[in-house]
Amino acid sequence: MSGGGRTAGVPPVREHEIRRWHESGQAWDRWADAMADPAARLNGPLLAALDLRPHHILLDLASGAGEPAITAAKGMGPTGRVLASDLVPAMLAGARRRGVSVDALSFMTADMTALPLGSASVDRVSCRFGLMFVPDAARAVAEMHRTLRPGGVAAALCWGPQADNTLFRLVDDALGGMPELAVLFRFAEDGSLASLFQGAGFNTVAESPVRQTALADAAKPFWRPTLDMAFTPALARLAREDRAALEGRIAASVRAQADQDGRVPVHLHARLVVARKT
Ligand SMILES: C[S@@+](CC[C@H](N)C(=O)[O-])C[C@H]1O[C@@H](n2cnc3c(N)ncnc32)[C@H](O)[C@@H]1O
Repeated sequence: MSGGGRTAGVPPVREHEIRRWHESGQAWDRWADAMADPAARLNGPLLAALDLRPHHILLDLASGAGEPAITAAKGMGPTGRVLASDLVPAMLAGARRRGVSVDALSFMTADMTALPLGSASVDRVSCRFGLMFVPDAARAVAEMHRTLRPGGVAAALCWGPQADNTLFRLVDDALGGMPELAVLFRFAEDGSLASLFQGAGFNTVAESPVRQTALADAAKPFWRPTLDMAFTPALARLAREDRAALEGRIAASVRAQADQDGRVPVHLHARLVVARKT
């Protein structure tokens, strides 16, 4: 399947959003394997909330380089399926490469505000770090509600406040503050995701924080995947020497924050919403 006709009344996806993700696809694919561990830690609470069964059909929205779709598909039985979907084929390229041998996985290019699927056609819907990029997020959640079977569950993760997310804070500070980054924290406020899902007709909705802290080695560029993946368009505008200077500033800031063993705490705060269609 691909594309999907636009539903009357749905505003067109902003072209710059498509271009941004098209430009980011290679960076996401390049880092996807190296990021498997942090990805698995984030998948844990999301997949647990979904309460997936081996026979379920899971629709994953904004799959990007493939998570949580690939991990979920590995746990499916012979009749279960995971449909990994994304607006931008260049982002799904990583998912196709990484999921090539996973039988239960299939792919679809689709705008989550106009899904080319029948009503009540899936058991579960997931969306990891995708919803905040969609201008008409209410429409996307209405599509989740429409495509879910009665009794079905949707779960989504979005970023909590920037101040609670060390990697974004470090890189953004070194870049001198990027207005483009604000969209990442669009649903950071406690309760904003819950009201979005209630507004779409879900009647059992719970929102909770997901907080994790890892200790990173300050001597290693553990921040480089974030720099590459989240800031691709900004980096493309930088000359080689400016990029080197930027990386030097981040490394210096990390060293300044290290403890006596050369470790830096890396905090993460995401918001998890879980909603059931009755
Ligand atoms: C930050 S990535 C998340 C990828 C993956 N789920 C993860 O957590 O690693 C955000 C993704 O949202 C996708 N996206 C943005 N707007 C979309 C829309 N309207 N419909 C479907 N996907 C969209 C982008 O193409 C991009 O791949």
